[in-house]
Amino acid sequence: MTRGLFISFEGTDGTGKSTQIELLRRYFQEAGQECVYLREPGGTAIGERVREVLLDNRSRGMTARTEALLYAASRAQLVETVIEPALETGKNVICDRYVDSSYAYQEFGRDLGSSVVDINEFATGGLMPDMTLLLMLDRQAARERMAARGGEADRIENEGDAFMEKVAAGYLKVAKRYPDRIRVIDASKAPEEIAAEIRSEVEMLQDRKTRAEGASGARPGNSDSEELE
Ligand code: TYD
Repeated sequence: MTRGLFISFEGTDGTGKSTQIELLRRYFQEAGQECVYLREPGGTAIGERVREVLLDNRSRGMTARTEALLYAASRAQLVETVIEPALETGKNVICDRYVDSSYAYQEFGRDLGSSVVDINEFATGGLMPDMTLLLMLDRQAARERMAARGGEADRIENEGDAFMEKVAAGYLKVAKRYPDRIRVIDASKAPEEIAAEIRSEVEMLQDRKTRAEGASGARPGNSDSEELE
């Protein structure tokens, strides 16, 4: 059986990730490809409990190291019990955040340095996405989108602008570190335009994968698409 595609979405809060994830889910659905959608932290019963601890405003005293380890712990549970089994059975996986969030928020945002890479290597067994879509938007626009979305800000969202700037700069460093895997997307464009760009990246990825597997010309949506599953 052909392994599924593993795609992660990244970006600071308010960059329009959820909208793009939903559009890509629909795209896979219309192409008749099974797709599992997950969010981090969370995505498992244990991970959702860890998520509550991480995002709860009552967790204000949490140290940076504890924070990094809890994100990694939630991820470890998700990789072993959900992501790996799904990929192995040929399902595509879309993950709303993955290791790059820990690199941007904990390695760079919290200045924890490269130990964050090491603990995530341990947590994931080295499993990396086939492609990561990083949505970048300037802080003012992201703040406006978050305000429009409403709701109460969680512990990380309450960190303020200086932290978010550090995270955004961190994301750009991470994109430079993994240029083959990460696609930086200008999130100030219209949602449909971004979605088209993402679809085209996904199609190219599928083509590369099909070629690497020695199959011929299977693309999402055509009559050969079963070969990908
Ligand atoms: P969430 O509500 O899922 O944010 P969003 O809708 O923006 O994805 O909350 C997740 C928060 O946790 C978000 O502020 C980013 C942060 N985070 C980290 O700091 N490190 C991580 O490894 C992950 C996965 C998330």
